[in-house]
Amino acid sequence: FKHDIFTGRSVLITAGPTREDIDPVRYISNHSSGKMAYALAEVAVEAGAKVTLVSGPVSIDKPGRVKTIDVISAQQMHDAVQENIEGVDIFIGCAAVSDYRPVEILKDKIKKDPNNTEEILELKLVRNPDIVASVAARDEAPFVIGFAAETSNVIEYATRKMQKKKLNMIVANDVSDKSIGFSSDMNEVTVLAEGIEKTLPKASKKVLARKILNIASRSYHQWRRD
Ligand code: C5P
Repeated sequence: FKHDIFTGRSVLITAGPTREDIDPVRYISNHSSGKMAYALAEVAVEAGAKVTLVSGPVSIDKPGRVKTIDVISAQQMHDAVQENIEGVDIFIGCAAVSDYRPVEILKDKIKKDPNNTEEILELKLVRNPDIVASVAARDEAPFVIGFAAETSNVIEYATRKMQKKKLNMIVANDVSDKSIGFSSDMNEVTVLAEGIEKTLPKASKKVLARKILNIASRSYHQWRRD
């Protein structure tokens, strides 16, 4: 990297989906594989950073030389981030956090209506905390990178998200294209930051992780000087 910002720096990354229990056998989740976040963790370690991964349930191998904290729900992910945020230089919110969770987790499995007359079952959801926004809102906030999975108006929505959540950088991708994103090994993203709009062509997540952190390194260097 042009600006060696990773040697000895502390990097915290959220990864994967979160899983929100409905009852003892069912949950709400999403298609995140954790591949992008794990690739970022590997590259940051190779660049000399001390990396902590707070990871939702994924089925890929843990990267080496990384402290991984496994969590299930968004609330657990939020708590693990709060417990480990002190002294972090760069925070990367790469997890696909469930925006809502069931208001209550039922102790017993939900049964079908015994008479089979009711066609509709209503599930009440409550908002989860916004992890990346809570980190960016801290008094001595680290440099914060967010991700935005969009299906339309990618740049416009991502820019809005970056401003609303007070992020330093956002990595946007179009998840309506099935050949990239989520479980795929390939991705194509646009990186936005102060004075930066850069589209990175389709490549493996490892290659993209290197390019994303290269841009982050320039942006972080500039941010630290301001
Ligand atoms: O608002 P949206 O979920 O699209 O924003 C995506 C970004 O916000 C990602 O960086 C994601 O990790 C983060 N996020 C979060 N906590 C939430 C929701 C999203 O950290 N509850």
